[in-house]
Amino acid sequence: MPPSTMQDSYTSTPRKMKIDRSNYFGRVASRWHTTASARLLACSAVLLILTLFVMYRISSISGGIVEGGIIGRSVAAFKPTHEWELKVRQSCVPKRLEEDVMVVLVTGAAGFVGTHVSLSLKKRGDGVVGLDNFNDYYETSLKRARLDLLEKHGVFVVEGDINDETLLMSLFEVGQITHVMHLAAQAGVRYAVQNPRSYVHSNIAGLVNLFEVCKAANPQPAIVWASSSSVYGLNNKVPFSESDRTDQPASLYAATKKAGEGIAHTYNHIYGLSITGLRFFTVYGPWGRPDMAYFSFTQDILRGKAINIYTGSGGKDLARDFTYIDDIVKGCMRALDTAEKSTGSGGKKTGPAQLRVFNLGNTSPVTVPILVDILEKHLKQKAIRNIVKMPRNGDVPFTHANTSSAQSQLNYHPTTNLDTGLRKFVKWYLSYYGVGTDHRLWLGDREQIV
Ligand SMILES: NC(=O)c1ccc[n+]([C@@H]2O[C@H](COP(=O)([O-])OP(=O)(O)OC[C@H]3O[C@@H](n4cnc5c(N)ncnc54)[C@H](O)[C@@H]3O)[C@@H](O)[C@H]2O)c1
Repeated sequence: MPPSTMQDSYTSTPRKMKIDRSNYFGRVASRWHTTASARLLACSAVLLILTLFVMYRISSISGGIVEGGIIGRSVAAFKPTHEWELKVRQSCVPKRLEEDVMVVLVTGAAGFVGTHVSLSLKKRGDGVVGLDNFNDYYETSLKRARLDLLEKHGVFVVEGDINDETLLMSLFEVGQITHVMHLAAQAGVRYAVQNPRSYVHSNIAGLVNLFEVCKAANPQPAIVWASSSSVYGLNNKVPFSESDRTDQPASLYAATKKAGEGIAHTYNHIYGLSITGLRFFTVYGPWGRPDMAYFSFTQDILRGKAINIYTGSGGKDLARDFTYIDDIVKGCMRALDTAEKSTGSGGKKTGPAQLRVFNLGNTSPVTVPILVDILEKHLKQKAIRNIVKMPRNGDVPFTHANTSSAQSQLNYHPTTNLDTGLRKFVKWYLSYYGVGTDHRLWLGDREQIV
């Protein structure tokens, strides 16, 4: 039988016959070649998938999304559409004629404070446009619900990141922005241990990007931005005054806010930007932040779950200068109203510009056990209390604001005590969530101590 008619050596029952070796090896070689090609193809496919995966991770890191890395959205090249421009313009049209009317860009507009400030500006008749990246640090459904509220009142919120230079430049150009209320930030103290880069992304890189765009804008806007009481860190001189030392931050969050104050000084000094920093003290109220203790305590008390009440050294109760959202909003509005114009033009300073820092607190700290007493009263339910020593993860034992500067320069006078404020919060909480919601699905290790 000619070798060509031999049964293929790969069939199950090879015939016994003399093998034509040269052809046999030719076939083996050809078979090997086929297998090698298949292997090569498979390897190339795996390599391609790997390369694409690595490219995706790199673009995510530079743009925003990395698990355990930066929170947010990737910063894709922004191209304004006609419809987008129309919405921005409409949102920015003021509804009052006074000379002091403003057009304000509110960053972090879908956040707790941002929503309230945007609504207040809009209500007064100023032009407002919001910006928020809707990151998932806490439940995005709450941010979307705030967005619905804002849209109902005619505030358009652009979904984007403060690191997106093109987007910010388009906003300034289309909206004719006169003031920036900068509230976008990675908030929370404990979460910095888990995801430090998100703090650098929003509170450092984002802040610099925003200042860069403001500096180049013509005319430059005046800027009011949220620093934090956390800059006082381990300072134990009470009450905290703006002139007290702020060089001992106890958390990365505090360090990024402190760095922000330094960066603000630089942009004021070199480029003539008018900048006011507001050090908020534990803000609470309706539409608040689920990572904060008053919020999660409410949920746990309603569900009959035990709450951890932390104590400081020597078993001392922790205390906070809890400040009601409406008082904070008034402080923000007064800071915007009294902000002087920036002095730069074409990116160059033409004269000295205003630079201010104010504490916005309530000036009467309350301990955590008393906070819980008040919640119990309004929820009509007893809390199950676990008294636990405060872990060392960036929090401080107490805060207490001296607000005399804000009183004299901003006419800032907080009027809501914790009892009244928590009653309003509980009312909102019950109408929004009802009794049985589980925020912990989102919270993980993000909950604030107080
Ligand atoms: N609430 C407080 O007790 C308190 C206290 C001190 C300081 N502050 C500061 O006040 C400001 C507002 O705080 P809040 O309680 O409303 O927090 P929040 O988290 O509810 O609001 C911040 C908003 O900014 C957005 N954001 C974050 N990074 C962004 C980015 N890179 N680009 C665009 N949007 C981004 C978030 O999605 C969020 O909606 C923050 O700067 C915070 O650090 C708040």
